[in-house]
Amino acid sequence: MTAPACFAPEGLRDFAAAYPGGSAPVAHRLHDHPLFRIDALADLAERLPASHVEHNLGNLAVDQRPDAIPRAALSPGEIVRTLADNGCWMVLKKVDVDPAYAALINACLAEIAPVATRTTGAYRRREAFIFLSAPNSVTPFHMDPEHNILLQIAGSKTMRVYPAGDLSIVPQTVHEAFHRGGAHRNMRHDPKFDAHARDFAMGPGQAVYVPVKAPHWVQNGPEPSISFSITWRSRMSDGEARLHRVNQRMRRLGIAPGAPGASPGTDAAKVAGHRLVKGAVALARRAVGKERDRAAY
Ligand SMILES: [Fe+2]
Repeated sequence: MTAPACFAPEGLRDFAAAYPGGSAPVAHRLHDHPLFRIDALADLAERLPASHVEHNLGNLAVDQRPDAIPRAALSPGEIVRTLADNGCWMVLKKVDVDPAYAALINACLAEIAPVATRTTGAYRRREAFIFLSAPNSVTPFHMDPEHNILLQIAGSKTMRVYPAGDLSIVPQTVHEAFHRGGAHRNMRHDPKFDAHARDFAMGPGQAVYVPVKAPHWVQNGPEPSISFSITWRSRMSDGEARLHRVNQRMRRLGIAPGAPGASPGTDAAKVAGHRLVKGAVALARRAVGKERDRAAY
């Protein structure tokens, strides 16, 4: 049996103990991987479609207008090569479209599959991102809809992670707005929340597992930072999202939904009902499409 290439044995143990609901440090081995050398990342930034590359100068105003975000007049590859002193923030999105990176992501997910797929079912929507950021930058308080392992490749950062599902930190109506779409990514933060948080200080070789919708914010260290984020969704994350969508519909009809988790049987019935209705709607749409196709001939 070959040794795992992506995660250290203790990292796999820590992941197994925490998954799926708890955050955990996860030791990894990718910081020396050739695909994360500066030249390889610069080449990737150049060959990815433009829609997968987002960047801006890191010193944005608190009330920054989205249509006036300053950008460096450099090519994506040049931004990567001059990260040490160009003051930029950059994300390479969905790098799994690139075969070399896709193979690496799949290898990582295979190593944690005995725990992840046994607990939350088959992987859905695997996606990976590479974040490159200037020294000392901050990623504000927010939550994400996926399971996520954030691997530190170069530089340092501290991620403060709050428990997922604590309605005193993220109210139920904010969860519902999140799944309806259109809610602002950054959320209200109160220093009182910090009593429930856990800090993960990360350098090269250290990662953190962030559960689905566990709120977090990130402080970068004094050097440029490179991080690799591997994300996936599951039957569990899909069910959580469906539950909030059903609750949001109920609220619009004037019915106050119960808190998630207060009645697991009711929650399960809502999720099953939503899957059934959405499945039926999708079937009906396909049938109508076929009728239209036939009518066109
Ligand atoms: Fe995040």
